[in-house]
Amino acid sequence: MTGNDVRAKFLTYMEKRGHALIPSSSLVPENDPTTLFTGSGMQPLIPFLMGESHPMGTRLMDSQRCFRAEDIEEVGDNRHTTFFEMLGNWSLGDYFKDEQISWMFEFLIDELGLNPEKLYITAFIGDKVNKVPKDTESAELWKQLFHKKQIVAEVADMNTEEEASQRGMKAGERIFYYNAKKNWWSRSGGPEKMPVGEIGGPDTEMFYDFGLPHDKKYGEFCHPNCDCGRFMEIGNNVFIEYVKNEDGAFKKLPKRNVDFGGGLERIAAAVNDNADVFEVDLLKNIIERLELLSGKKYFDYPLAFRIIADHIRGAVFMISDGVYPSNTEQGYFTRRLLRRAVRYADTLEVPNGELKVLAKTVIDIFKDHYVQIAERESDIIESIFAEEIQFRKTLEQGLKEFNKVALKLTIPVKKVNGKVVSDSSKKPTQQKFITGESAFNLFTTYGFPIELTIEIAKERGMTVALDEFKTCMDKHRELSRTSSEQKFKGGLADHGNRVVMYHTATHLLLAGLRKELGDSVHQAGSNITNERLRFDFTYDEKVTDDILKKVEEYVNTAIRNDLPVAIETLSKIDAENDPTIEGSFWNKYPDQVKVYTIKNSQGEICSRELCGGPHVENTSAMQGTFKIIKEESSSRGVRRIKAILD
Ligand code: ALA
Repeated sequence: MTGNDVRAKFLTYMEKRGHALIPSSSLVPENDPTTLFTGSGMQPLIPFLMGESHPMGTRLMDSQRCFRAEDIEEVGDNRHTTFFEMLGNWSLGDYFKDEQISWMFEFLIDELGLNPEKLYITAFIGDKVNKVPKDTESAELWKQLFHKKQIVAEVADMNTEEEASQRGMKAGERIFYYNAKKNWWSRSGGPEKMPVGEIGGPDTEMFYDFGLPHDKKYGEFCHPNCDCGRFMEIGNNVFIEYVKNEDGAFKKLPKRNVDFGGGLERIAAAVNDNADVFEVDLLKNIIERLELLSGKKYFDYPLAFRIIADHIRGAVFMISDGVYPSNTEQGYFTRRLLRRAVRYADTLEVPNGELKVLAKTVIDIFKDHYVQIAERESDIIESIFAEEIQFRKTLEQGLKEFNKVALKLTIPVKKVNGKVVSDSSKKPTQQKFITGESAFNLFTTYGFPIELTIEIAKERGMTVALDEFKTCMDKHRELSRTSSEQKFKGGLADHGNRVVMYHTATHLLLAGLRKELGDSVHQAGSNITNERLRFDFTYDEKVTDDILKKVEEYVNTAIRNDLPVAIETLSKIDAENDPTIEGSFWNKYPDQVKVYTIKNSQGEICSRELCGGPHVENTSAMQGTFKIIKEESSSRGVRRIKAILD
């Protein structure tokens, strides 16, 4: 069965039981500052789980795209991925445990054809401190369902994972109670971790038994929550009925809700009775393409294949939701995904610049179900290509520097008459250690993210002095804060932060307009406040919305890509004769002029303009999204644009 089949079957099953399909939300949650990414299907539904009424009713379903940043390092085994689709159904104060549990059983066993002997269940053991009772109701419901299929299903207490691995599973046992670490769900984790106002509740989870032998590395005995790989969680039914009060105690919500979430690929893996989610078509097609690209076989290099497939897929979805690779917040994760993918692509000797081929495969797999992917196809491919090329440059320079540090030998010393001298009777030793300062230097000078330094160090059996690195970073931050404060107190006294940003935005705006409308466009006037820019330029007709969008995108691409803004001083004559420099009102300027240049990562000019300044040092300092809010006539042959950084 394909992933697309499982998704379709689930939605049809739930539709027949009165559920309305809600669209998958963006990976970047709207109005939810608690998490950087959508990591579960319920996130967009918070207000409705808290009691607000939903326009589509009390029974909802979807397949939600999710991203779990905390799992980046876990990717490589047969089941962890950063990006995944979560099948979900919700009762907003409608049905409860009875319906949910019997539907799940029916869906997995009768619809998908899973062998019920291979299904195992966990439920909540209760929490005395927070006065939440043991969930005997769920356990009893499951038990009855198994009995109907003539399957023995004894119930047992496990409590913690440690206790479970010491106790193991006795014959006939199928339903296990665990504590809140395992069987409680909220966006922030267990009851203790929930902030005031957060909602959550006990859950009952379904596990599939792949029948693999237990690995004692993970504990004496196996049990459903053991990590050895025999069992895999395929779905979670949360009974959201609590909210944390001001006094830290739990209060019941006005209505009892059901929140079901199940990983699409994991369910498909169970249906295929193959524990490797990377062999489900949604990922397997990427793996197969990568085999062609690299001339290597998945089974010889599972780690690299899995990381590349997961990360390229994650990056495609991120970019399709507007999260381009950058150094800020969410964008940093897209960057990390792509940079890790490049590193592993190197180990498979994938030719330079070819990751875009995999991106195209991802787009083809998902574009029917996710329209935004089809719409942004060229954007996605271009930005993955650009990041790959840019990172390879960084990598080349950074690795040289890394090798200098890593290959440095330590000369053994001895003391002679109280003096330290080299000891030629011993061999020089290889470094085992990257100092914090070297790691810091790799980061600030060569753009090597610390995770990368750690990873390469690990490959070479070295460690990184992380505490020292952090100290260097803190000092650096403190210094740059102090110097920017001083700068603003001094020379830039009349230029607030935002005004400077708008100056740079104005340059990019003009460059974008000239790109779209031609070289006859020049500046005719400019006025900037803290709140907006106003820009007049030579052009005869109304500028279409379509062009305005492209111009906005031109500016926003520069903002997203963290491009340095370079200043040069030139003689006015040279500058005036340089066709790459845009300028107006030349006669206002002295004999020596300043030229500000912004180049993209390929070294192409995005903007090069005569100006007195000041400007931001790097486009990453421009906070917000550039938006044109008005385009109108200013005077004959001159148009006026007002724009903001939103
Ligand atoms: N919200 C629940 C989860 O993510 C279903 O596991």
